[in-house]
Amino acid sequence: MDLGLAGKTALVTAASKGIGYAVAERFVAEGSRVAISSRPGPTLKAAAERLRAQAPDRVHELPADLTEDGAGTALVAEAIETLGSLDILVSNTPGPRISPVLDLSDEDWETGYRTLLRPAVQLSRAAARHMAERGDGSIVFLTSTWVRQPSAGGGLSAAFRSAISSLSKQCAVELAADGVRVNQVLPGATATDRMRDIATAKAARNGTTVEQEIAEVVSAIPIGRWAEPEEIADAVAFLASPRSAFTTGHALSLDGGAVRATL
Ligand SMILES: NC(=O)c1ccc[n+]([C@@H]2O[C@H](COP(=O)([O-])OP(=O)(O)OC[C@H]3O[C@@H](n4cnc5c(N)ncnc54)[C@H](OP(=O)(O)O)[C@@H]3O)[C@@H](O)[C@H]2O)c1
Repeated sequence: MDLGLAGKTALVTAASKGIGYAVAERFVAEGSRVAISSRPGPTLKAAAERLRAQAPDRVHELPADLTEDGAGTALVAEAIETLGSLDILVSNTPGPRISPVLDLSDEDWETGYRTLLRPAVQLSRAAARHMAERGDGSIVFLTSTWVRQPSAGGGLSAAFRSAISSLSKQCAVELAADGVRVNQVLPGATATDRMRDIATAKAARNGTTVEQEIAEVVSAIPIGRWAEPEEIADAVAFLASPRSAFTTGHALSLDGGAVRATL
Protein backbone atom coordinates (compact mmCIF):
# COMPACT_ATOMS: atom_id res chain seq x y z
CA MET A 1 0.00 0.00 0.00
CA ASP A 2 1.39 3.39 -0.98
CA LEU A 3 0.92 5.57 2.12
CA GLY A 4 1.21 8.79 0.14
CA LEU A 5 3.97 10.07 2.42
CA ALA A 6 6.49 10.91 -0.33
CA GLY A 7 7.35 14.60 -0.23
CA LYS A 8 5.60 15.17 3.11
CA THR A 9 7.49 16.98 5.84
CA ALA A 10 7.66 15.42 9.31
CA LEU A 11 9.09 16.29 12.73
CA VAL A 12 9.77 13.32 15.01
CA THR A 13 10.87 14.04 18.58
CA ALA A 14 12.89 11.82 20.96
CA ALA A 15 14.10 10.20 17.76
CA SER A 16 17.80 9.44 18.15
CA LYS A 17 17.02 5.82 19.03
CA GLY A 18 14.29 3.37 19.97
CA ILE A 19 10.72 3.93 18.84
CA GLY A 20 11.29 7.52 17.69
CA TYR A 21 14.19 6.50 15.47
CA ALA A 22 12.20 3.65 13.91
CA VAL A 23 9.38 6.11 13.11
CA ALA A 24 11.80 8.54 11.48
CA GLU A 25 13.39 5.72 9.48
CA ARG A 26 9.97 4.65 8.24
CA PHE A 27 9.16 8.18 7.04
CA VAL A 28 12.52 8.34 5.28
CA ALA A 29 11.78 5.01 3.55
CA GLU A 30 8.42 6.40 2.44
CA GLY A 31 10.11 9.40 0.78
CA SER A 32 9.26 12.06 3.39
CA ARG A 33 11.55 14.89 4.42
CA VAL A 34 12.26 14.42 8.10
CA ALA A 35 13.56 16.47 11.02
CA ILE A 36 14.62 14.36 13.99
CA SER A 37 15.25 15.74 17.44
CA SER A 38 16.73 14.69 20.77
CA ARG A 39 19.25 16.21 23.17
CA PRO A 40 22.40 17.65 21.61
CA GLY A 41 25.19 15.07 21.38
CA PRO A 42 26.70 12.14 19.54
CA THR A 43 23.59 9.90 19.70
CA LEU A 44 21.52 12.36 17.65
CA LYS A 45 24.38 13.01 15.23
CA ALA A 46 24.92 9.29 14.65
CA ALA A 47 21.19 8.71 14.12
CA ALA A 48 21.01 11.53 11.57
CA GLU A 49 24.05 10.13 9.76
CA ARG A 50 22.47 6.66 9.59
CA LEU A 51 19.29 8.14 8.11
CA ARG A 52 21.21 10.41 5.73
CA ALA A 53 22.98 7.32 4.38
CA GLN A 54 19.51 6.27 3.17
CA ALA A 55 18.39 9.71 1.95
CA PRO A 56 21.20 12.31 1.86
CA ASP A 57 18.99 15.36 1.17
CA ARG A 58 15.91 14.55 3.22
CA VAL A 59 17.15 14.32 6.81
CA HIS A 60 17.83 17.15 9.28
CA GLU A 61 18.75 16.98 12.94
CA LEU A 62 17.45 19.60 15.36
CA PRO A 63 19.00 19.22 18.82
CA ALA A 64 16.69 20.15 21.72
CA ASP A 65 16.27 19.13 25.34
CA LEU A 66 12.50 18.77 25.54
CA THR A 67 12.48 19.28 29.32
CA GLU A 68 13.70 22.88 29.00
CA ASP A 69 11.30 25.83 29.18
CA GLY A 70 9.69 26.55 25.81
CA ALA A 71 11.67 23.79 24.05
CA GLY A 72 8.69 22.21 22.29
CA THR A 73 7.43 25.51 20.90
CA ALA A 74 10.89 26.57 19.71
CA LEU A 75 11.54 23.18 18.13
CA VAL A 76 8.42 23.32 15.96
CA ALA A 77 9.35 26.82 14.78
CA GLU A 78 12.82 25.55 13.86
CA ALA A 79 11.38 22.54 12.05
CA ILE A 80 9.04 24.73 9.99
CA GLU A 81 11.95 26.99 9.07
CA THR A 82 14.20 24.05 8.17
CA LEU A 83 11.63 22.01 6.24
CA GLY A 84 9.71 24.96 4.78
CA SER A 85 6.42 23.70 6.27
CA LEU A 86 5.21 20.91 8.53
CA ASP A 87 2.73 18.25 7.40
CA ILE A 88 3.28 15.75 10.23
CA LEU A 89 4.23 15.92 13.90
CA VAL A 90 5.07 12.77 15.83
CA SER A 91 5.14 13.85 19.47
CA ASN A 92 7.36 11.38 21.32
CA THR A 93 8.93 12.12 24.70
CA PRO A 94 11.64 10.69 26.92
CA GLY A 95 10.44 8.10 29.39
CA PRO A 96 9.75 9.11 33.01
CA ARG A 97 11.16 7.66 36.23
CA ILE A 98 9.77 4.24 37.14
CA SER A 99 8.77 4.20 40.81
CA PRO A 100 5.97 3.20 43.20
CA VAL A 101 3.63 6.19 43.63
CA LEU A 102 4.33 6.48 47.36
CA ASP A 103 8.03 7.02 46.66
CA LEU A 104 7.41 9.91 44.25
CA SER A 105 8.13 13.39 45.65
CA ASP A 106 6.54 16.67 44.53
CA GLU A 107 9.73 17.27 42.58
CA ASP A 108 9.35 13.93 40.77
CA TRP A 109 5.84 14.99 39.71
CA GLU A 110 7.15 18.39 38.52
CA THR A 111 9.85 16.59 36.53
CA GLY A 112 7.28 14.19 35.12
CA TYR A 113 5.20 17.14 33.93
CA ARG A 114 8.23 18.79 32.30
CA THR A 115 9.30 15.49 30.69
CA LEU A 116 5.99 14.18 29.36
CA LEU A 117 3.02 16.54 29.33
CA ARG A 118 4.53 19.98 28.80
CA PRO A 119 6.51 19.02 25.65
CA ALA A 120 3.43 17.30 24.18
CA VAL A 121 1.33 20.41 24.80
CA GLN A 122 3.91 22.78 23.34
CA LEU A 123 4.74 20.63 20.32
CA SER A 124 1.13 19.95 19.36
CA ARG A 125 -0.05 23.53 19.94
CA ALA A 126 2.70 25.04 17.79
CA ALA A 127 2.30 22.42 15.06
CA ALA A 128 -1.50 22.61 15.05
CA ARG A 129 -1.50 26.40 14.67
CA HIS A 130 0.72 26.09 11.60
CA MET A 131 -1.29 23.17 10.17
CA ALA A 132 -4.65 24.85 10.78
CA GLU A 133 -3.47 27.94 8.89
CA ARG A 134 -2.61 25.70 5.93
CA GLY A 135 -5.80 23.66 6.32
CA ASP A 136 -3.94 20.34 6.44
CA GLY A 137 -1.84 18.32 8.85
CA SER A 138 -1.55 15.21 10.96
CA ILE A 139 -0.39 14.82 14.55
CA VAL A 140 0.39 11.48 16.22
CA PHE A 141 1.07 11.33 19.95
CA LEU A 142 3.10 8.38 21.23
CA THR A 143 1.97 7.41 24.74
CA SER A 144 1.83 3.95 26.37
CA THR A 145 -0.51 1.05 27.08
CA TRP A 146 -0.03 1.96 30.75
CA VAL A 147 -2.73 4.58 30.06
CA ARG A 148 -5.18 1.68 29.63
CA GLN A 149 -3.67 -0.86 32.01
CA PRO A 150 -1.53 0.38 34.91
CA SER A 151 1.68 -1.43 35.72
CA ALA A 152 3.58 -1.33 39.03
CA GLY A 153 6.00 1.60 39.02
CA GLY A 154 4.33 3.31 36.06
CA GLY A 155 2.49 6.06 37.97
CA LEU A 156 4.17 9.05 36.32
CA SER A 157 3.76 7.53 32.88
CA ALA A 158 0.10 6.61 33.39
CA ALA A 159 -0.92 9.93 34.93
CA PHE A 160 0.75 12.29 32.45
CA ARG A 161 0.09 10.11 29.43
CA SER A 162 -3.58 9.90 30.35
CA ALA A 163 -3.56 13.69 30.14
CA ILE A 164 -1.92 13.44 26.71
CA SER A 165 -4.63 10.96 25.66
CA SER A 166 -7.30 13.46 26.63
CA LEU A 167 -5.41 16.23 24.88
CA SER A 168 -5.24 14.09 21.74
CA LYS A 169 -9.00 13.54 21.70
CA GLN A 170 -9.70 17.19 22.52
CA CYS A 171 -7.45 18.41 19.70
CA ALA A 172 -9.03 15.92 17.29
CA VAL A 173 -12.48 17.37 17.98
CA GLU A 174 -11.43 21.01 17.90
CA LEU A 175 -9.12 20.82 14.87
CA ALA A 176 -11.01 18.53 12.48
CA ALA A 177 -12.74 21.45 10.79
CA ASP A 178 -9.32 22.99 10.12
CA GLY A 179 -8.12 19.87 8.30
CA VAL A 180 -5.87 18.70 11.13
CA ARG A 181 -6.16 15.07 12.28
CA VAL A 182 -4.90 14.00 15.69
CA ASN A 183 -4.36 10.40 16.75
CA GLN A 184 -2.48 8.43 19.36
CA VAL A 185 -0.41 5.23 19.33
CA LEU A 186 0.00 3.34 22.61
CA PRO A 187 3.02 1.01 22.48
CA GLY A 188 3.20 -1.98 24.78
CA ALA A 189 6.53 -3.55 25.72
CA THR A 190 8.90 -2.76 22.84
CA ALA A 191 12.48 -3.92 22.36
CA THR A 192 14.46 -0.72 22.99
CA ASP A 193 17.28 0.41 25.30
CA ARG A 194 14.67 1.79 27.70
CA MET A 195 12.98 -1.59 28.13
CA ARG A 196 16.32 -3.32 28.59
CA ASP A 197 17.36 -0.67 31.17
CA ILE A 198 14.10 -1.15 33.07
CA ALA A 199 14.58 -4.94 33.11
CA THR A 200 18.19 -4.50 34.29
CA ALA A 201 17.14 -2.18 37.16
CA LYS A 202 14.36 -4.57 38.19
CA ALA A 203 16.76 -7.52 38.19
CA ALA A 204 19.18 -5.61 40.44
CA ARG A 205 16.32 -4.67 42.81
CA ASN A 206 14.73 -8.13 42.92
CA GLY A 207 17.93 -10.21 42.94
CA THR A 208 16.91 -11.89 39.68
CA THR A 209 18.44 -11.97 36.21
CA VAL A 210 17.57 -9.65 33.34
CA GLU A 211 16.35 -12.70 31.40
CA GLN A 212 13.97 -13.61 34.25
CA GLU A 213 12.56 -10.06 34.34
CA ILE A 214 12.08 -10.05 30.56
CA ALA A 215 10.41 -13.48 30.72
CA GLU A 216 7.98 -12.17 33.34
CA VAL A 217 6.92 -9.23 31.13
CA VAL A 218 6.58 -11.51 28.12
CA SER A 219 4.49 -14.03 30.07
CA ALA A 220 1.69 -11.42 30.27
CA ILE A 221 1.69 -10.88 26.49
CA PRO A 222 -0.53 -13.37 24.62
CA ILE A 223 1.55 -13.05 21.42
CA GLY A 224 4.54 -14.08 23.56
CA ARG A 225 7.17 -11.47 22.76
CA TRP A 226 8.01 -7.75 22.85
CA ALA A 227 7.17 -5.54 19.87
CA GLU A 228 9.93 -4.44 17.55
CA PRO A 229 10.19 -0.63 17.24
CA GLU A 230 9.51 -0.98 13.50
CA GLU A 231 6.08 -2.46 14.28
CA ILE A 232 5.17 0.67 16.26
CA ALA A 233 6.53 2.79 13.41
CA ASP A 234 4.24 1.07 10.89
CA ALA A 235 1.16 2.12 12.88
CA VAL A 236 2.41 5.67 13.33
CA ALA A 237 3.13 6.00 9.60
CA PHE A 238 -0.38 4.82 8.70
CA LEU A 239 -2.08 7.21 11.13
CA ALA A 240 0.11 10.09 9.94
CA SER A 241 -0.60 9.35 6.29
CA PRO A 242 -3.42 10.39 3.96
CA ARG A 243 -4.48 6.70 3.88
CA SER A 244 -6.12 7.27 7.27
CA ALA A 245 -7.89 10.46 6.15
CA PHE A 246 -11.16 9.52 7.92
CA THR A 247 -9.45 8.61 11.21
CA THR A 248 -9.08 11.19 13.94
CA GLY A 249 -9.26 11.00 17.73
CA HIS A 250 -8.24 7.35 17.55
CA ALA A 251 -6.06 5.61 20.14
CA LEU A 252 -4.36 2.48 18.79
CA SER A 253 -2.76 0.03 21.24
CA LEU A 254 0.03 -2.21 19.95
CA ASP A 255 0.48 -4.63 22.80
CA GLY A 256 0.42 -8.23 21.55
CA GLY A 257 -2.90 -8.66 23.36
CA ALA A 258 -1.56 -7.60 26.77
CA VAL A 259 -4.28 -5.04 27.56
CA ARG A 260 -7.29 -6.95 28.87
CA ALA A 261 -9.89 -4.18 28.45
CA THR A 262 -12.54 -4.88 25.80
CA LEU A 263 -12.63 -1.30 24.42
N1 LIG B 1 9.97 0.73 24.90
C1 LIG B 1 8.78 0.48 25.41
O1 LIG B 1 8.42 -0.65 25.74
C2 LIG B 1 7.78 1.60 25.57
C3 LIG B 1 6.43 1.29 25.75
C4 LIG B 1 5.51 2.31 25.92
C5 LIG B 1 5.95 3.63 25.92
N2 LIG B 1 7.27 3.90 25.75
C6 LIG B 1 7.67 5.31 25.77
O2 LIG B 1 8.08 5.70 24.48
C7 LIG B 1 9.08 6.72 24.59
C8 LIG B 1 10.32 6.27 23.82
O3 LIG B 1 10.76 5.08 24.42
P1 LIG B 1 11.92 4.18 23.82
O4 LIG B 1 11.69 2.84 24.38
O5 LIG B 1 12.03 4.38 22.35
O6 LIG B 1 13.17 4.82 24.59
P2 LIG B 1 14.70 4.99 24.18
O7 LIG B 1 15.12 3.95 23.19
O8 LIG B 1 15.42 5.07 25.49
O9 LIG B 1 14.74 6.42 23.45
C9 LIG B 1 14.45 7.56 24.18
C10 LIG B 1 14.64 8.77 23.27
O10 LIG B 1 14.36 9.96 24.02
C11 LIG B 1 15.42 10.89 23.80
N3 LIG B 1 15.54 11.79 24.95
C12 LIG B 1 15.89 11.46 26.22
N4 LIG B 1 15.87 12.55 27.00
C13 LIG B 1 15.49 13.59 26.22
C14 LIG B 1 15.29 14.98 26.44
N5 LIG B 1 15.44 15.51 27.66
N6 LIG B 1 14.89 15.76 25.40
C15 LIG B 1 14.72 15.23 24.16
N7 LIG B 1 14.90 13.92 23.89
C16 LIG B 1 15.28 13.11 24.90
C17 LIG B 1 16.65 10.01 23.62
O11 LIG B 1 17.65 10.67 22.89
P3 LIG B 1 18.96 11.37 23.51
O12 LIG B 1 19.49 10.47 24.60
O13 LIG B 1 19.84 11.47 22.30
O14 LIG B 1 18.48 12.70 24.01
C18 LIG B 1 16.05 8.90 22.75
O15 LIG B 1 16.02 9.30 21.39
C19 LIG B 1 9.34 6.89 26.08
O16 LIG B 1 8.56 7.95 26.57
C20 LIG B 1 8.86 5.59 26.66
O17 LIG B 1 8.49 5.71 28.02
C21 LIG B 1 8.19 2.93 25.56
